[in-house]
Amino acid sequence: MTHTIHIAPSILAADFTRLGEQVRDAEAGGGTLIHIDVMDGRFVPNISMGPLVVEAVRRVTSLPLDVHLMIIEPDHLLENFARAGATSITVHWETCPDLPRTLQAIKSLGCRAGVAINPPTSANVLFDFIHQVDLINVMTVNPGFGGQAFLPEMLPKIRQLRQMLSGRALDIEVDGGINRDTAPAAVEAGANVLVAGSSVFNSKHSVAEGIEALRRAVGN
Ligand code: DX5
Ligand code: ZN
Repeated sequence: MTHTIHIAPSILAADFTRLGEQVRDAEAGGGTLIHIDVMDGRFVPNISMGPLVVEAVRRVTSLPLDVHLMIIEPDHLLENFARAGATSITVHWETCPDLPRTLQAIKSLGCRAGVAINPPTSANVLFDFIHQVDLINVMTVNPGFGGQAFLPEMLPKIRQLRQMLSGRALDIEVDGGINRDTAPAAVEAGANVLVAGSSVFNSKHSVAEGIEALRRAVGN
């Protein structure tokens, strides 16, 4: 079965002095989602951005905003991100003691509900929840920083999740170290949403060229 391939530029790697321009370039260059990484300095060893940035990005693009919450106790902030304009909200399995309740809360705010799993976390933890999610994010680096190397050990996990879905069209996102060299194996394993930070936003080429290189690499 073939799934629509999405390229989701991650603004963590963008030039924040001209964020609006970078997001517009990502849309004009063929990005299909804008990925926004929220970090709290607790679940991950870094702090990034919050609802204010989501709200600013919302004003410069019509693309869906894919908000990735790398924060502990996400429940009390879901509404802030939904109000700021998130299209999907992804929480980490590792941070949610009552995942069904959190997913339901995201949906009742009108957003798509996603769940992310860290590299050491097994795909099996999602077995009971898979029918409740719209999106699975398989972290292909340890979360917290852009520019890390893709972990090829995650490929069997992607394959296992695609099999667990037994044909149901659900987005499997890969996040971390995705570039023209690593994307093909991720797609072959069953991923269809490619989050890409440093391979899209860098000084070696334009944003459009970065996106195009990814598309070409996966034959899309
Ligand atoms: C990592 C973030 C990623 C990050 C990926 O914690 O979740 O979304 O932006 O960056 P690259 O593509 O540079 O690995
Ligand atoms: Zn992310």
